Amino acid sequence: MCGIIGYAGRSEAVPILLDGLERLEYRGYDSAGVAVVSPENELQVVKTKGRLSVLREHLAEQDPLKGQIGIGHTRWATHGEPNDTNAHPHVGADGKIAVVHNGIIENYLEIRASLERKGIHFASETDTEVIAQLMEYYYRKLGNLMNAVYAVLGRIQGAYAMGILCRDVPGQMIAARKDAPLLIGYGEDGNYIASDVTALLAHTRTVTYMEDGEVAVLTADSVQIYDRERAPIDREKHTVDWDVSAAEKGGYAHFMLKEIMEQGEAVRKTVSPRLQDGRIVLPELAESAEFLKGIRKINIVACGSAYHVGMVGKYVLEKLLRIPVDAYLASEFRYSEPLLGEDTLVIVISQSGETLDSMAALREAKKGGSKVLSIVNVMGSSIARESDIVLYTWAGPEIAVATTKAYTTQMVLLIMLGIYMADVNGRVAADEYAALVNGITELPEKIESLLGDVDICQKAASHYFNRNSVFFIGRNLDYALGLEGSLKLKEISYIHSESYAAGELKHGTISLIEPGTLVVALATYAPLLEKTRSNIVEVRSRGADVIVVATEETAPAVRDQATELLIIPSTHPLLQPVLGVMPLQIFAYYVALNRGCDIDKPRNLAKSVTVE
Ligand code: F6R
Repeated sequence: MCGIIGYAGRSEAVPILLDGLERLEYRGYDSAGVAVVSPENELQVVKTKGRLSVLREHLAEQDPLKGQIGIGHTRWATHGEPNDTNAHPHVGADGKIAVVHNGIIENYLEIRASLERKGIHFASETDTEVIAQLMEYYYRKLGNLMNAVYAVLGRIQGAYAMGILCRDVPGQMIAARKDAPLLIGYGEDGNYIASDVTALLAHTRTVTYMEDGEVAVLTADSVQIYDRERAPIDREKHTVDWDVSAAEKGGYAHFMLKEIMEQGEAVRKTVSPRLQDGRIVLPELAESAEFLKGIRKINIVACGSAYHVGMVGKYVLEKLLRIPVDAYLASEFRYSEPLLGEDTLVIVISQSGETLDSMAALREAKKGGSKVLSIVNVMGSSIARESDIVLYTWAGPEIAVATTKAYTTQMVLLIMLGIYMADVNGRVAADEYAALVNGITELPEKIESLLGDVDICQKAASHYFNRNSVFFIGRNLDYALGLEGSLKLKEISYIHSESYAAGELKHGTISLIEPGTLVVALATYAPLLEKTRSNIVEVRSRGADVIVVATEETAPAVRDQATELLIIPSTHPLLQPVLGVMPLQIFAYYVALNRGCDIDKPRNLAKSVTVE
């Protein structure tokens, strides 16, 4: 979705803004622009529909925009089609104030109408232009920029992260935030704002996360944050431990492939600090033993792939804890009048920590009296900050839109949480506990050995990449895994795909199976192997081509039914989906590659979905 970068410093702003915007590209966008205040105090704006390369061309056609303070934006259209005029930054009618904005201003039509009645003419269809026009209006009236900023914030309703420049106050950049992420970066040659830490990593790793209702004033040498009442506040600085190479392709053709290959290390980083002497250690829960003993129900809430992790969690946690565990799509949960209360734990899973539906579900859960534990990848993100307890996945920055290493680390951490809770509640026998911990300890190496040889998956992808439709089938944990396999394939290759519980086939879906239909059958969950095998026989006997994913242990039982057999290492059955997802990710990647798709930035998708 939209991205913001801003810089106030001693270097030329345009290259810094373009570099920052490039690092935000992965979030998805349809237009981009920059505004820079020149040494002569002119406000210069260049913006355009399309990719950053088009913006670069536009900038190259003009004299390079000189100036050491500027704001930049990548826009993912919500109000008004993607075109040059609707692109940010937006400037008021006097040409004095420029604004970039992420989020949605809900009462923009009403404010626009009132400004139009005062004779102010609007150029674009956006809600953001309302901010720029209203700010100029107040600036004219009040004669002071900060007064104008606070007056605007008092009038607008909705969500915003914004960067503001005014040519009359040329050394200052102003930032404001409510319900949309914005952070401040402290660099050696100046200070920064950004909607996403990856935009800053090349310049600084010292950051502050702005809170809702705050306004910040940045110059080349200073940063001052103010609260809602305009009182100055001190805010803690954090050091981000991601480095810039983690957000670069490092020789891989795509971020997605790089991130698939990083999964061994990402899982190692996530689990090893939490394993000590054969025990799972979660210091985040050290004070919560009594609370954990009183939990009677768990609701796992998330979107997309994170929801698929929740589906795995439903099966695993229910088996371990013997209490009801349900997985919900956040967009449904929030409006379903969910049954909540003190004895219900709500687990929110999110890579970005900014997904609007998940955030709204979190608030709903708290309103209903439940504690919220979140599993999040991005430190300091909104979901992390509003949760009662946070467990971080240490996957590092995930740039490809289609999640891989975040999904895997979320799953391992959720399973570890389940084992930990089962232990606190005396629900897991010592030998089973030891077997699970041993399985988790061995996971990083098993992942690395699996990913060391992807030839068979790659070959399968080159055989089947031109199919129009693919079905995924599996039972129990394999069903949950199929949901993710199917999403991975369709989102990046644009092939229609569905995932079914294998036992459901005969209740409808099997009528779709005809000679040559491609079915991916997941037969990794050993306890239900015989049942899954029967379902594979059913589709095979109707002429389907069947790619079977099996483990070293289950492969002998299904080999004769497979058109292609993808074998993964065996582990404890409850951990098997962690390994099982990898051939599905690799298959999806190579199918999309063969089809010439834009793998890291699939059409219509954005990395972090901050609108409803
Ligand atoms: C699919 C994918 C999405 C996300 C979903 C939730 O590959 O990445 O389905 O899983 O948008 O995002 P987060 O985890 O950031 O809340």
